[in-house]
Amino acid sequence: MNVASEMSLPFLPVDSPDLTANPYPYVERARAEHPWLARFAEGYIVHSYKAVSELLADDENLLPGFGPVVEFYSVHGTMWARFWEDMLPSVSGEKHKRLRGSVAHAFTPRHANQVRPLMRKVITELLDEWAPKGAFDFVEFASLFPISVMCGLLGVSTEHVPRIRSALETHILSLSLDPALKQPALAGWEVMWRFADDAVKQREASGTLDNDSLLDRMIQSKDRGDLDEIELRFMLLVLMLAGFDTSRNMLGFIMKTLLERLDTYARCAEEREYCGKVVEEALRYYGIATPYRVAARDFTYQDVRFRRGEVLVCVTALAAQDASVFPDPSTFDPARENSHRNVAFGRGAHICLGQFLARTQLQEGLHLIARRLKNPVLSGAIGWKPFIGAWGLSKLPIRFEAA
Ligand code: HEM
Repeated sequence: MNVASEMSLPFLPVDSPDLTANPYPYVERARAEHPWLARFAEGYIVHSYKAVSELLADDENLLPGFGPVVEFYSVHGTMWARFWEDMLPSVSGEKHKRLRGSVAHAFTPRHANQVRPLMRKVITELLDEWAPKGAFDFVEFASLFPISVMCGLLGVSTEHVPRIRSALETHILSLSLDPALKQPALAGWEVMWRFADDAVKQREASGTLDNDSLLDRMIQSKDRGDLDEIELRFMLLVLMLAGFDTSRNMLGFIMKTLLERLDTYARCAEEREYCGKVVEEALRYYGIATPYRVAARDFTYQDVRFRRGEVLVCVTALAAQDASVFPDPSTFDPARENSHRNVAFGRGAHICLGQFLARTQLQEGLHLIARRLKNPVLSGAIGWKPFIGAWGLSKLPIRFEAA
């Protein structure tokens, strides 16, 4: 048996701009040295499909958690640290079940379907405003869509979006462990907390809680004793964060890919069903999430011994390029038969709560975007967000004909 810390493993320079823009050659070289494990500055990178799937599902030996983030920024004892440590994606066991159960009703496939009219309304209004411009940064445009859908679902006014967008953005970016982000992230946390606190207090003051609004139902859960005051506000923020950045990043990747496949893009304008296939293959091709896990105890996986406290990052984007599961993995092929086996939404107890909502809103968004922004072309340099954290584009300037 090998002890991970003593093994000679390939090192992945996850901070390098070159890897961020194209990680695949790096992982191919790493795979030649070890089939599923590499090292990075903070711990281990897991990259084969099998290992990512199995380790994410191992809720016994590996715990999710953002302790390494709190440690890195040395913010112990702050409310921001408490959020990292106590929010839904960080907790396990009974507490996790209770928190997840308090909102799960709003994230079923059936509910995602019922929200389609809201999604169409939101994207149509955005396109009415943005399409006449003829050119814009697609990432900025895309960032407004999922967050507005989430506001609609929660029953929170979108007038708050400009105020909190950059705070949410900084919070997510801080996952990349950049010391320069500590102060902006702490300041952003104050904005996020104030938003959550005001939103709850305003709904409570209205005196009329309503069953169609998710926030109102969460407040009712709190009134029944299923959530406490802080858990309620943390949950509101988790939903805003999780629902905003991930779908925006995926939509950016989809547009980047389709700029080079205008025939596929044109078909998306004609057939909403076909957009579902494009979205599923994009989820396969571009895992954007890099879930952190911390070893809860010493344990062995596939003949490698990990020590308690070691950090493993399961990179869904790299699992997606595993040729043993997805033949010719670097080809983007919406007709691929097993795209749905992607691990983009994770595995195990923490599997993405919003996966049905995300699929549906990406499908609806893509269809309406392709109908309104005709013959798009890249009109400037693409920008990239850090690979570890929430991978995506920071800039995608396009020009198009408005229909
Ligand atoms: C393309 C879009 C999305 C992707 C790729 C994605 C990916 C993921 C992944 C990989 C996880 C598991 C993290 C882990 O195991 O530590 C996760 C968790 C989660 N996602 Fe998503 N997500 C997306 C969209 C959404 C949306 C729209 C929501 C809406 C609220 C959402 C809410 C959540 C929540 C609440 C969790 C934590 C679940 C838990 O810990 O029980 N996600 N997501």
